[in-house]
Amino acid sequence: MLHRTGVQNKAEPQPQNLDGVAALRHPSDPMSTSAPILPATDDAIAQAAAHLRAGRLVAFPTETVYGLGGDATDDHAVAAIFAAKGRPSFNPLISHLPDLDAARKLAIFTPLAERLAANFWPGPLTLVLRRRPDCPVSHLACAGLDTIALRVPAHPVATRLLRATGRPVVAPSANPSGKVSPTQAQHVRNLLGDRLALVLDGGACAIGVESSVVDATGDRPVLLRPGGVTLEALEQAVGPVTLPEHDPDAPTSPGQLASHYAPALPVRLNATNAAAGEALLGFGPTDGTEALNLSRAGDLQEAAANLFAMLRALDRPGLSGIAIMPIPETGLGRAINDRLRRAAGPR
Ligand code: TXA
Ligand code: MG
Repeated sequence: MLHRTGVQNKAEPQPQNLDGVAALRHPSDPMSTSAPILPATDDAIAQAAAHLRAGRLVAFPTETVYGLGGDATDDHAVAAIFAAKGRPSFNPLISHLPDLDAARKLAIFTPLAERLAANFWPGPLTLVLRRRPDCPVSHLACAGLDTIALRVPAHPVATRLLRATGRPVVAPSANPSGKVSPTQAQHVRNLLGDRLALVLDGGACAIGVESSVVDATGDRPVLLRPGGVTLEALEQAVGPVTLPEHDPDAPTSPGQLASHYAPALPVRLNATNAAAGEALLGFGPTDGTEALNLSRAGDLQEAAANLFAMLRALDRPGLSGIAIMPIPETGLGRAINDRLRRAAGPR
């Protein structure tokens, strides 16, 4: 493929590169089971943007996990995302924007939201805010709520794609609902290849757990989902944060389901060693009996980046379960433990 520079805002898709479109139209066609994985050249980004603007779905990298992207203003594209993931339609999606100015057009920014955006955007923070009356995002994307979740990701490929598309892009993690999130392009193709026009490859995701979701509609932030921005960092920037599990009156996120992020095998937490048939996923220095280790150095950032890929690697037939050593409940450990509790939750 020719590498063309500087055309990402204008280029039309090349007809010879539309294999993914056929895939969308004919999901039973055996030729169509895998969308192409393209290195994120300017040309590939222009193609991806054209697909999005035509209502098709593309997967793209962010700093947290790979997203399953669709035009947020297109009800059909949004419906196709819910269908592809098998996601309940009461669980709203995040709209992704290239910058704060684009985000301000969609929602009412409280002073708290301005401070959070100034501190953490671009980055792994999602803000839940009231929709503007003229917000063009599909109501289906917001599950009919009068709030909207907004995120400005810090990944150059995501930013280029969002600029080239020129519209808000909804992007849940690119995995079937309830399953382990993808942190590499190949994971996405294995999971959802037949639903996509293409997968943009931006390498492995640096953070590895999803964004923190914060309700910023009021004066005090409510942490709806722990994620890539730690509670400690949020509190340092904007003061005390409400945790809904401690406050029954706080807003909650409709997406916080008990079973989520789950491999096929049962998951056992706070394990010190593996029972017969189990694979042990270690953390920190060990006696060496673990199958894989999230971080031998006990580094939570390294552990978060490894989490989903290692769960995926250990999810093998022939094993009876995955046993996971304890992870401290600080910093990124909160997001890791949130995902692990749901991976181990009642199915
Ligand atoms: O890191 C991420 O956030 C990734 C990447 C691809 O950007 N995306 C992601 O999307 O994790 P998803 O759809 O898997 O998670 C969206 C979360 C859900 O927990 C959902 O309930 C919550 O955001 N959410 C969305 N809109 C909301 C709203 N209006 N009010 C409360 N929670 C909302
Ligand atoms: Mg998800």
